[in-house]
Amino acid sequence: MTRLFKISLIFLLTIAVIIPISSCELDQQTQDITPISELSPPENEAVAEEIINYRREQMQGLSAHYRSLEAIIDENAPFSDQALIHVESLMAINQFLTQGFPPETAMEEGEWGAKPLIWDEPDEFTAIVVAFQDRLASLKSAITEQASQEEVSEALNQARQQCLDCHQVYRVRQP
Ligand code: HEC
Repeated sequence: MTRLFKISLIFLLTIAVIIPISSCELDQQTQDITPISELSPPENEAVAEEIINYRREQMQGLSAHYRSLEAIIDENAPFSDQALIHVESLMAINQFLTQGFPPETAMEEGEWGAKPLIWDEPDEFTAIVVAFQDRLASLKSAITEQASQEEVSEALNQARQQCLDCHQVYRVRQP
């Protein structure tokens, strides 16, 4: 074997290993959302209550990052260099959002919170979480590719629509 041939071979083998590893990492970012149908009920009521408290905090977190983005994108708060951090935070929280909704954590009859309907149609609920992650990925691309203010604002709106669609069907607001 000539030296050049050996070097080329090593180079090609390295590429063959690196490409699948990097594309695999990308897939994982969008596909690791646990379907609601795979979750087990909490051990007891005390744990159920803590799960409900936790998921409400996660929702407050989503809200704060969303509002921060709105201030930057739609109201010109001078922090455009921080927009990406907020989108990535939304994606990080949403990645695990379904895990806060195991069976037997619905609101009590006549109360407010998460409707029992979520567990009658777990796949529809999971689908909204997945769609939300996709919209957030589009928003992230719009920001990193420095799309126009209008396009970024529209991508933010599209993402927000998933919050609204989910709430409309599966949540009763606190009066
Ligand atoms: C897939 C469905 C879904 C998506 C997407 C979703 N939410 Fe929620 N959200 C819920 C449900 C269900 C509740 C009620 C949870 C409970 O009370 O146990 C809730 C509750 C909330 C609450 C009240 C929390 C509290 O302290 O009681 C806020 C605020 C909130 N969501 C904001 C948002 C924002 C902002 C987004 C998007 C950026 C969002 N949510 C996306 C389903 C969703």
